[in-house]
Amino acid sequence: MNFEFTEEQIMIRDAARDFAQRDLITDVIERDTNAEYPTKHIEVLSELGFMGMMVDPKYEGGGMDTVSYILAMEEISKVDASVSVIMSVNNSLVCYGLGKYCTDEQKQKYLPDLATGKKIGAFLLSEPEAGSDATMQRTTAEDKGDHYLLNGTKNWITSANAGSIYIVIAQTHPEKKHHGINAFIVEKDTPGISLGPHEDKMGMRSSDTHSVMFTDVKVPKENRIGEDGFGFKFAMKALEAGRIGIAAQALGIASGALDRSIQYSKERKAFGTEIANHQAIAFKIADMAVKIENARNLCLKAAWLKDNGKSFAIAGSMAKQYCADIAMEVTTEAVQIHGGYGYVKEYHVERLMREAKLTQIYEGTSEIQKIVISRALLRD
Ligand code: CAA
Repeated sequence: MNFEFTEEQIMIRDAARDFAQRDLITDVIERDTNAEYPTKHIEVLSELGFMGMMVDPKYEGGGMDTVSYILAMEEISKVDASVSVIMSVNNSLVCYGLGKYCTDEQKQKYLPDLATGKKIGAFLLSEPEAGSDATMQRTTAEDKGDHYLLNGTKNWITSANAGSIYIVIAQTHPEKKHHGINAFIVEKDTPGISLGPHEDKMGMRSSDTHSVMFTDVKVPKENRIGEDGFGFKFAMKALEAGRIGIAAQALGIASGALDRSIQYSKERKAFGTEIANHQAIAFKIADMAVKIENARNLCLKAAWLKDNGKSFAIAGSMAKQYCADIAMEVTTEAVQIHGGYGYVKEYHVERLMREAKLTQIYEGTSEIQKIVISRALLRD
């Protein structure tokens, strides 16, 4: 077993760290307060090749491995999870899904712009009545011969406004239940698509989240992904990869909170000494570090399995559940260590705590991950 990173992986991690600690940090509080989309930062991410890290260079992607992606996600999420969620959805839901399941023609048409960040992708699965229970798709895709007609509403869509390439999951044959669901590549400027208002979220406030309405939207038949009825499996497979990215995001939020807690506890004095010298604080730091180390190992294991062509669904769900849950615990402790300062924006940890909460909810709640894990264990 080799726990060492390659030179290339270290280079990628350091590039992500520099970008996050030098650029992202400068206006993160302001962007969060104003729920302002990070346009200029996404441009830099694109220049760094971070919007299509694992895409085949044949389609203008970075050709990097998942371990590198995890390292970059952790560094960026330490500072700003709004930016890393845009990056994650583009990389590991949209680009991964297209790269793995689309025809060469579809890839030629859509992947290069997504991989280079010229266009941003969004993944439209959730609906007002289909969140955790993703099989209950109400959005319909009626087969009209040479095209499909989309009608319905999608909820909680990351990059709904900034994005221009949508992957939409919709029901074509309701009598077949999840076997009748299809996935489509839909260009946002197609007539009949409209957006709900920007969601005023608790955390990750500068990523843009909207509902998306489809009214008689014509989608060419060649934009269907895979065989008729492949859509639900496609969504599940894309989520398998997406969950590793969100696990790394949660890991980054937690490690960002630990870094800030270590720094603060070595500066802040109480009862005549730096608070780091009190075991009440020192033990918290140790507990946080152990959780983060476990979380990192789960993430890297899932990434390694994926990179080596092995089954990674269960490892990904374990990583997602554990990283998200410890991110909530660790950030809560970080606020506690900071005392009153932890409760105000200037010290960042209150924002990290708000961001951590979302990682327990999206791309499958922690409870959904437990369903995936327990079913796999109990089936055999
Ligand atoms: N790979 C392939 N097929 C899979 C699969 C997988 N990982 N998981 C399930 N399936 C298949 C099953 O084999 C089954 O197919 P058959 O009937 O042919 O055997 C079918 O899907 C249904 O499976 P289940 O009976 O297990 O379905 P279920 O409804 O009981 O549970 C679930 C499925 C795991 C709970 C699923 O609905 C799920 O993952 N829900 C959470 C949805 C989610 O994560 N949403 C996130 C939205 S995206 C997002 O948040 C992005 C963002 O903006 C940040």
